[in-house]
Amino acid sequence: MELAGKRIVLGLTGGIACYKAAELARGLSKSGASVQVVMTQAAQQFITPVTMQALTGKPVFTDQWDARIDNNMPHIDLTRDIDALLIAPCSADFIAKLAHGQCDDLLSTLCLARPEALPMMVAPAMNVEMWQNPATQRNVRQLKEDRIGILGPEAGEQACGETGMGRMLEPVRIQEEIVAAFQPKIMAGKRVLITAGPTFEPIDPVRGITNLSSGKMGYAIARAAREAGADVLLVSGPTALPTPHGVQRINVQTAEQMYDVVMSHVSGQDVFIAVAAVADWRVANVSEQKWKKDEHGNAPQLQFELNQDILADVAALPNKPYCVGFAAESEQLLRNGEAKRKRKGVPLLVGNIGHRTFGKDQNELMLFDDNGHTHLPLADKQKLARQLIAEISRRMH
Ligand code: CTP
Repeated sequence: MELAGKRIVLGLTGGIACYKAAELARGLSKSGASVQVVMTQAAQQFITPVTMQALTGKPVFTDQWDARIDNNMPHIDLTRDIDALLIAPCSADFIAKLAHGQCDDLLSTLCLARPEALPMMVAPAMNVEMWQNPATQRNVRQLKEDRIGILGPEAGEQACGETGMGRMLEPVRIQEEIVAAFQPKIMAGKRVLITAGPTFEPIDPVRGITNLSSGKMGYAIARAAREAGADVLLVSGPTALPTPHGVQRINVQTAEQMYDVVMSHVSGQDVFIAVAAVADWRVANVSEQKWKKDEHGNAPQLQFELNQDILADVAALPNKPYCVGFAAESEQLLRNGEAKRKRKGVPLLVGNIGHRTFGKDQNELMLFDDNGHTHLPLADKQKLARQLIAEISRRMH
C-alpha cells in the first residue's frame, strides 16, 4: 500500500490514452490512494464517467456548475486537502491551457485555483507531430518553469498509426512517479552506482553457469535511490525486470564485463552499492564449440579461475565512493557478515537473513557497520530498499 492515505485528483483530458487512465485509476486505488476523477468534455468522448466511477468508488466531476458541493465551488473545493493533482492523459490543448492559465471548464479552472504548494504532474499523450510542434515544446517548457512535473511521454507506436514520441507513459510508470513524488529527497544531487542481478559465465556457446539472483533487491534499491533524488546508474546481469523509471541501465553478462563497466563509470560517483550476485569463478577453458558427449559419456573437465572482486577493488580506490556490500550467507550471518565487511573494506555491509531470498518479493536484512549491527525486519523489498537508502544517507552525513 505505497499510497495509503494519499488523496489524489486525477484529471482526464481528450485522447485515446484515456483507456489507460482506467488502469491507472485502478492501480492508484489498489495502492491505497483515494482517487477523485475529474473529466473534460473531450475525455468523455473516449471513456465514460461511469467506468471511472466504478473503478474509484467515487462519482466523477465533469461540470464546473456541479451542485453536489455545498458552496457550489467544485473548482476550489476539489483541490483543498489533497496530496497531488495528476492530469493523465494530458492533451496538447490542455498543456496549452495550463501554460497560459486559461480556465474555461472545471478541470482547467481547478488547476489554476490549486494551492501553490500542491504537487502537480501531467502525463502528456498526443500524436508525434503535435508533441514535436514548437508551440507544444514552448508550452511544456513553461510548465516546467511553473514547477509542474512532466511524466513522459515515451516513444513508440501510436494509435494513429504513426511512430514516435507522444505515447502516454504506461500506468505503472506513472504510478511509480506519483509514489516517487512523496519520497523525501535525501539523495538529491548524489550519483549512485548499483550492480544487480546474477552474472552468467559461459561454458560453451550455448551453456553457462549462473545463480538464482532475480535482481529484485538491486532494482528496488535503484528505484528507491532515484525516488530520493539521486542520479542512478544500474549495471545489471541478465534479469527479466523492467528498468525503474528514470534509472540509466547498462546490461552485462559476465563478472568480467560487470567489472569493466563499473570501473569505467565509478569516477565521480558518490555511492556504490554492490547488490549483484557475482560469480566468484569463471570457466577458464570455455569451449568455442558446443561440448559434445564422447562415446563413454564422460563429463567435460571444466577448469575455473577467480573473478576479480568488484566491490573490494572499488573500495580500495583512492577517491572511492561510499561503498555498500551485500552478503548472501547460508549460515552464521552475524559472524560472517562482520568478517566480510572487514575483508571487503566497506563501511556498510548488508546481510540477507537466510539465503532463500532469491526471487522473492520480501526480504529481511541485517546491516553491519563500525557500530555493530542493525536489523531491518521482514518486509517488501521496495520498502526495505527505501529504508536502506535512508540508512545509507544518514551514514554518509
Ligand atoms: N562481489 C563483487 N565482486 C565479486 C564477488 C562479490 O563485487 N567478484 C560483491 C557482491 O556484489 C556483494 C559482496 O561482494 O556485495 C559479497 O558477495 P558474496 O558472494 O556474498 O561474497 P564473496 O566475496 O563472494 O565471499 P564468499 O562467497 O566466500 O562468501
